[in-house]
Amino acid sequence: MAYYYSEPSRTFSEYLLVPGYSSPNCVPDNVSLKTPLVKFKKGEEPAISMNIPMTSAIMQAVSDDRMAVALAREGGVSFIYGSQTVEDQAAMVARAKAYKAGFVISDSNVKPTATLNEMLSIVERTGHSTVAVTEDGGPNGRLLGMVTRRDYRLSRMTGQETVESFMTPLDKLVTAPASTTLKEANDIIWEHKVNTLPIVDDDGGLIYFVFRKDYDSHKENPLELLDAGKKYVVGAGINTRDYARRVPALIEAGADVLCIDSSEGFSEWQRMTINWIREHYGDTVKVGAGNVVDAEGFRFLAEAGADFVKVGIGGGSICITREQKGIGRGQATALIDVCAERDRYFQETGVYVPVCSDGGIVHDYHFTLALAMGADFLMLGRYFARFDESPSRRVSIGGNYMKEYWGEGSSRARNWQRYDVGGKEGMAFEEGVDSYVPYAGSLHDNVALTLSKVRHTMCNCGAVTIPELQQKAKLTLVSATSIVEGGAHDVVLKENTVNGGKK
Ligand code: IMP
Repeated sequence: MAYYYSEPSRTFSEYLLVPGYSSPNCVPDNVSLKTPLVKFKKGEEPAISMNIPMTSAIMQAVSDDRMAVALAREGGVSFIYGSQTVEDQAAMVARAKAYKAGFVISDSNVKPTATLNEMLSIVERTGHSTVAVTEDGGPNGRLLGMVTRRDYRLSRMTGQETVESFMTPLDKLVTAPASTTLKEANDIIWEHKVNTLPIVDDDGGLIYFVFRKDYDSHKENPLELLDAGKKYVVGAGINTRDYARRVPALIEAGADVLCIDSSEGFSEWQRMTINWIREHYGDTVKVGAGNVVDAEGFRFLAEAGADFVKVGIGGGSICITREQKGIGRGQATALIDVCAERDRYFQETGVYVPVCSDGGIVHDYHFTLALAMGADFLMLGRYFARFDESPSRRVSIGGNYMKEYWGEGSSRARNWQRYDVGGKEGMAFEEGVDSYVPYAGSLHDNVALTLSKVRHTMCNCGAVTIPELQQKAKLTLVSATSIVEGGAHDVVLKENTVNGGKK
């Protein structure tokens, strides 16, 4: 007879935290969100910790090199998507690792023969109005000029003018050589009263821009996550088919941590992948595995040697796995079950295997709930897809800006390896949708706001660290009627003024 669980599986919105005693020490400034990324032995330090409990999803619409840099700057880690060729993914990892804080690879680029209208559509797509004019229209072509908003006056132009007719040409620009340090670049910016300094190589090829505003923002990132060589920490997704080729390329490119990206991780394919990595690299290459939703799945992956275990099936915002296949489990129940097993495993073996809650985070308070339920960190897709730094297009729909966001199991991404159960290669049916999410601005501002709420809530619970929250949290299920009570009710709202509505 089939096994029946005695309780329904539940999700975050069905829970609330009940506040605990807060001592005078319990203030948001004293809260540390430091958390382990990979397993460690009792009494030892993990080889990699994060300064904030956030990772970005292994998805085409979420995690590329730009996202990796932006998130590492805040203290978290991106896992660059694996549903691309080995070469392209390795190149993204290499770019993120090569990133010099404050030195930006230009993403609005045109040839001198492009029209004003063509240039404006690039600016609209990237959201960046400083445009490099290069010989080949690429980010590293020979620099011929630059365009900023001060170079054109839309009311007096038709849109058909070529960029070379209104750009600021190279001979009027201040540039600096490749060897320039950030401090030197900043001095040049001040001395010449410019906002942007192009860094060019010996052949006149554009390498980076340094922006006046970035010097300050770099100084504003005390939690940035750096490796021993002062480069940003970068993760990458792998699959259970081509690891013998992909893993060496990613490690060579400088990836600090890998994660097997699969919708269902309780499988021999995952053990084989981890075994291969251990045979070839021992413990030097860190690899997470998943996704699982129960204690058995966790133990299987922990014993297989996973460095962390990812939890979640069917809860992702773009996910239709539950409708298509009828598998999954409410994210909160899955997480609570897996975290209890992680603690038992730690008691038994002295090895702590961090747990990542993947998918289904909607409101900021869900972050705190997931951490309180035992997650060491979270993986988020929809959340990050909304920001400037995600790779997807920003479009205007009905007067509102949106960003595109599509599932890895959608026919757009065609990441069949993620849904692979062995057998023939290829995608049998879709497990994800293609969608829009409301554009929300910069990652930095949004992460700061979210984490401010997390810190405040932790203080309400009397905790200044994540382990302390996990120890002290008191969680209650809420009835359907009390969920209604939790929103604004029995009033006529004037406008959605608080964070664009309830968040
Ligand atoms: P979100 O944060 O709720 O948007 O969920 C993101 C997570 O959904 C990812 O980290 C994946 O685990 C999962 N996911 C990504 N693409 C798909 C898909 O096409 N179908 C099902 N799940 C997906």
